[in-house]
Amino acid sequence: VRAGVRTPDVISLHPGTAGGFDIRVGLGVIDRLASILKEEAPAHRYAVIADRNVAELHGSRIGRLLETGGLDAEFFDFTPGEASKTRAVWATLTDALLEHGFGRDCCIISLGGGVAGDLAGFVAATFMRGVAFVQIPTSLLAMIDASIGGKTGLDVPGGKNLVGAFLQPRVVLTDPSFLATLPEREFTAGVAEAVKHGMIASERYLEEIEANTDSIRRRDERTILELVRGSVRIKSEIVGDDVLEAGRRAILNFGHTIGHAIEHVLDYTLPHGFAVAMGMVVESGIGETVGITAPGTRRRLEAALHRLGLPTAAPPGIDAQSIVAATGMDKKARASRVRYALVSSAGSCRPGTAGRWTVEVPDAVVLDALRNRPAPVSQETTDV
Ligand SMILES: NC(=O)c1ccc[n+]([C@@H]2O[C@H](COP(=O)([O-])OP(=O)(O)OC[C@H]3O[C@@H](n4cnc5c(N)ncnc54)[C@H](O)[C@@H]3O)[C@@H](O)[C@H]2O)c1
Ligand SMILES: [Zn+2]
Repeated sequence: VRAGVRTPDVISLHPGTAGGFDIRVGLGVIDRLASILKEEAPAHRYAVIADRNVAELHGSRIGRLLETGGLDAEFFDFTPGEASKTRAVWATLTDALLEHGFGRDCCIISLGGGVAGDLAGFVAATFMRGVAFVQIPTSLLAMIDASIGGKTGLDVPGGKNLVGAFLQPRVVLTDPSFLATLPEREFTAGVAEAVKHGMIASERYLEEIEANTDSIRRRDERTILELVRGSVRIKSEIVGDDVLEAGRRAILNFGHTIGHAIEHVLDYTLPHGFAVAMGMVVESGIGETVGITAPGTRRRLEAALHRLGLPTAAPPGIDAQSIVAATGMDKKARASRVRYALVSSAGSCRPGTAGRWTVEVPDAVVLDALRNRPAPVSQETTDV
C-alpha cells in the first residue's frame, strides 16, 4: 500500500501546448526535486523565495536536495503573512536578485503558502521581463488552490490582488507531507476550499469528504493525499478549460462574494477559508431562495462544514447590512451589480440564461439569507 501511495500522480495542464506543465502530487515527491528541476526547469541558478516560517522549517532540507543534486541555489526570505504581498517586498526581492547576480537564465522557486506563491510568481513574471518559475506549495490552500491557475500578484492600497500577472509555472511539486507542520487553523481554513471544489464540481468528491471528516481533521496521511489529489484535479480541470476567466471559471467564486465581504467587514482578521465557509452557506441559501439551488443543499453543507470544524454563519456581532454593502466592493462585481456563482445542487453548477455562470441577486434576498442562522457556530471556530 505504501508503495502505491508513494507513486506520484501527475496532473497535466494545457498538455501539448508550449505553456503546458505538470502538477506532481505525491508523498515524497519533494525528494526528487533536483531531477525534476533538471528535466522541467533547467536553469543556470535557482532562487528559492520563502517566508521565514517555512524557510526555518523546510529550507535546510530543500537546500540539501538542491545541493546534492548539483544545482546552484540561493535562498531569499521575507516576513510571513499577507502584509508581505506588497510592491515594497517585491522591490526588495527583485533588488536582492540583481545584487546576487541573478540573470535571465535563472529559475525562481516559490516555497510556501499562497503568499510566497503569489509574491515569488510576480517577481518571476517581472524579473528581466519574465524568468522560469516553479512552485512548491506547502500550505493546504496553496496546494489545492493558489498554485493552480497561473495567477500571481500583490495587494495595493486600493485592494487585494489588484496588481499582478498571469504566469504558468514550469512544474508544481505538491507534496502533502509538508502539511505535517502546518498550524491547525491554516489547515482547517484550507479544507474549506476543498469543500468548495466538491460543491461546485463533484458530488463524489464531496461525499468522500463527508465520509472522512474525522480522518481529515486528524490529518491522516492517506486521506489528506486523496483530498489534495481530488482538489488539484478539480481545480486544474476548471482552469484548464477557461484560462482567461471568460466563463466557467467563475464557479470557483462560489462562496467568495459573501466571503470577501465578510473578510472586508472584519478587516481581514478571519482566515480566508473561514470566510469562504460562511459565504458558501449564505450563497447556498440565496440559491435556494431564487430557485437555482436544490432545497436542502444549505443544510447538507452546514453539516459537513460543522464536522470539519469550520464556521457556518457570520459572527453574530456583524450587521448583515454592512456585509451586503461590502459585496459591491468585490472586484468581481462588474458594472456595480453584484453577481453570484451559485450551485445547482451539492456537486454541480449549471450555466443559466445566455450561458452565464453567475446571476444577479437582489440585495433583499441576500439580506434574508444572511439573517437565517440556523446552525450555531462551534466554540473553536468563533474563537478567532
Ligand atoms: N494565485 C491564486 O490563484 C490564489 C488563489 C487563492 C489564494 N491566493 C492567495 O494565497 C494567499 C493565502 O495563502 P495561504 O493561506 O497559504 O497564506 P500564507 O502563505 O501566508 O501561509 C499561511 C501561514 O502558514 C505558514 N505555512 C505555510 N506552509 C507551512 C508549513 N508547511 N508548515 C508550517 N507553516 C506553514 C506560513 O508561514 C504562513 O504563516 C492569499 O494572499 C491569497 O490571495 C492566491
Ligand atoms: Zn478562496
